[in-house]
Amino acid sequence: MDKIFITRILPDVQLINNLKEHFEVEVWEKSSPPNTEELLMKSKDCWGILTMLTEKIDNDFIIKNQKLKIIANMAAGFDNIDIETAKQQNIMVTNTPDVLTESTAELTFALLLLMAKRLPEANQAIRNNQWGPWNPNWMLGKDLKNANLGIIGPGKIGNAVAKIAKSFSMKINYYGRDPKIDFPGNYMQLEKLLVTSDYISIHLSLNNETNNFLNAKHFKKMKQDAILINTSRGKIINQDDLLQAIQSNEIGGAALDVTDPEPIDSSSPLLQMQNIFVSPHLGSATKATRYKMAKIAIDNLISYKIKNYCPNAVI
Ligand code: DGY
Repeated sequence: MDKIFITRILPDVQLINNLKEHFEVEVWEKSSPPNTEELLMKSKDCWGILTMLTEKIDNDFIIKNQKLKIIANMAAGFDNIDIETAKQQNIMVTNTPDVLTESTAELTFALLLLMAKRLPEANQAIRNNQWGPWNPNWMLGKDLKNANLGIIGPGKIGNAVAKIAKSFSMKINYYGRDPKIDFPGNYMQLEKLLVTSDYISIHLSLNNETNNFLNAKHFKKMKQDAILINTSRGKIINQDDLLQAIQSNEIGGAALDVTDPEPIDSSSPLLQMQNIFVSPHLGSATKATRYKMAKIAIDNLISYKIKNYCPNAVI
């Protein structure tokens, strides 16, 4: 029987049982992911692997895994995989798109509201015993109604965020490679979007073009009270430049669900800033969504085995 290695315990054991009808399956049961050597060792002789975004599937790994036929990534993003080498080696790569769109859009909006209303700061103030008598001038945040939301990356998640924003009567503008017919907002050049937005939310996938996409020169153009939200990938923002922009009050604040690296070091100066909120890559972290992601990854493996076809092939 062909072998499959799964790099983490999946949300439902029945999914593994389904896979066992077609393959010999090994699951990595430790809470932290396998390191490079462990991954290489466990994947040796495997027909397929089911990976998370934490597994770096680089040129070296692919070249050393001559028997590998498929990498089923349990994520919408696949920036952890060297797609070019996989293609050259004729290895199928699949992802789990669509099912996490709403969860990620909801988290984006949770972060936007959190920052607009200064909730992390306010909560910290209470813990620091700084909650005095009701004060008309204390902890004043920002409204959403009629505020300009700039979405960078008008894909499915950007689109879902725009729809939620509409119900808060926000004005929505977006920037991407091209205007989109079905996007609920106005297309804008990046420079104009940076200058006019009260809130900016990033929904780009990470690749050579988007690495370090937002940096010092962009922060300088943003409104002084603008709030930046990133639920895509940490490397899209230059974090040192962001810290500098926040420290020198060039922008109002940032909420980051993704950082570079992940996990962020607990001594990072970003975590010292009152107006930076960091969450630990929770975009798709709901029970229902993680189940659907795992099921799609498993189905991709089975479908490739039985039909030599995968509905979610990225190459
Ligand atoms: C993805 O699927 O790419 C997400 O970042 C995981 O939550």
